[in-house]
Amino acid sequence: MIPSILLDIGLGFVSHALAACSRETLQNATAAYVQAQTAGNPGLLDLASNVSYAENDTPLDIKQGVLSQPITIDFSRSLHDTVQCATFTELTAATSKHPYVIHTRMLLDNSDTTTPNNTNNNNHSSSQITHIESVVTDAGDWAFNATGHLYWTRRETWDAIAASARDARATIQAAADAYLDEWANTSVAVPLGTPCARLEGGIYSGTRDPAANTCAMPAFPTPLHVGNRRYVIDEELGAVDVFDGFPWIERTEPDRSMPSSNLIRVEKGKIRYIHELTVCATPNCGR
Ligand SMILES: *[C@@H]1O[C@H](CO)[C@@H](O)[C@H](O)[C@H]1NC(C)=O
Ligand SMILES: *[C@@H]1O[C@H](CO)[C@@H](O)[C@H](O)[C@H]1NC(C)=O
Ligand SMILES: *[C@@H]1O[C@H](CO)[C@@H](O)[C@H](O)[C@H]1NC(C)=O
Ligand SMILES: *[C@@H]1O[C@H](CO)[C@@H](O)[C@H](O)[C@H]1NC(C)=O
Ligand SMILES: *[C@@H]1O[C@H](CO)[C@@H](O)[C@H](O)[C@H]1NC(C)=O
Ligand SMILES: *[C@@H]1O[C@H](CO)[C@@H](O)[C@H](O)[C@H]1NC(C)=O
Repeated sequence: MIPSILLDIGLGFVSHALAACSRETLQNATAAYVQAQTAGNPGLLDLASNVSYAENDTPLDIKQGVLSQPITIDFSRSLHDTVQCATFTELTAATSKHPYVIHTRMLLDNSDTTTPNNTNNNNHSSSQITHIESVVTDAGDWAFNATGHLYWTRRETWDAIAASARDARATIQAAADAYLDEWANTSVAVPLGTPCARLEGGIYSGTRDPAANTCAMPAFPTPLHVGNRRYVIDEELGAVDVFDGFPWIERTEPDRSMPSSNLIRVEKGKIRYIHELTVCATPNCGR
C-alpha cells in the first residue's frame, strides 16, 4: 500500500507534468543541451534525480551514452513545445573526430518553484529534465553523411513564422502523419509543398532543383506501418519532429522497426522540408 502523503506528491507531479512550460525555459534547456553535448558533460543539464536516458530505443546509463563524449557541433536546430513541455534538437557534427547527426527529444517537468536537488544549485524557477532520448546516427546508418547533412541544412530557412501565418498544432502534426501514413496506404493525400526537399541522412532530394517538390516517396514493395510515434511540435517554427519505428528498411531484420526520426517543417499547411535519420543494424541497412 502506498502512504497517502506519497500519493499526494505523485498527483502533484502529474498535474505539473501536464501543465504548459514557457518557451524561455525550454530554450534554456536546449541551449544547455548543446553545451552539454559539446563538453560531453550531462552535468551541465538540470536533470531530475531519476531522469531516464535512451539512445536508439535502448535505455542506457547516461554516463555510457554519447552525451558523455565531447562532440564538435557544427550546426543545430531546436524545437520548443510549450504544450507538452518538450524539446527537440538536431545536432550536425561533421567536423567532429567522430562525425554524428543526432536527434534528441527531452521532456521536462514543470516545477516552477525551487527544486531541492537542482543540480545547478540555483533557486530560479526551473524545470528539470525527466526524459532524454536520442536517435544517434553515424557511419553505416541510413545514407549517413554528416558533411552532406551540414551542407544542406545550412542552406535551408527555418525562420519563425509570422504569428498571423502560423498553422495550428493539429495541422502541423497531420501533415507529418500523412507523410508517414502514406507508406502504409498510398491513397493518403500528403500535403507536399512546392518547393519541398528531403534530407535523408546526408542525401538531399532537392540537389538538382531546390525549387521543385522532390519529397514524394516512391512506393514501397510492401505497406509499411510506421508506429510508436512520439511528437515534439513548435507552432512558431511550423515544425514537428516525430520519433518513430521504421520497419522493412533493415534487410537483415525486416520485421524490426528501426529507430528513426523525421523533422518536418510545414508552411501554410504544406510540407517544406523533411530531415530523416534512420539507424541501421548493418551498413546502410544492407541496401
Ligand atoms: C534562462 O537563462 C537565462 C540566462 O542564463 C536566465 O537569466 C533566465 O532566468 C533563464 N530563464 C528561465 C525561465 O529559466
Ligand atoms: C521520477 O520520479 C517522479 C516523482 O517521484 C515519478 O513520478 C516519475 O515516474 C519518475 N520517473 C521515472 C522515469 O522513473
Ligand atoms: C536529494 O538529494 C539527497 C541527498 O543526495 C537525497 O537524500 C534526497 O532523496 C534527494 N531528494 C529528491 C527529492 O530527489
Ligand atoms: C534554495 O532554496 C532552499 C529553500 O528555500 C534553500 O534551503 C537553499 O539554501 C537555497 N539554495 C541556494 C543555492 O540558494
Ligand atoms: C558527402 O557529402 C559531401 C557534400 O555533399 C560530398 O562531397 C561527399 O562526396 C559525400 N560523401 C559520400 C561518401 O557520399
Ligand atoms: C487509405 O486512405 C484513404 C484516404 O485517406 C482512406 O479513405 C482509406 O480508408 C484508407 N485505407 C485503409 C485501409 O486505411
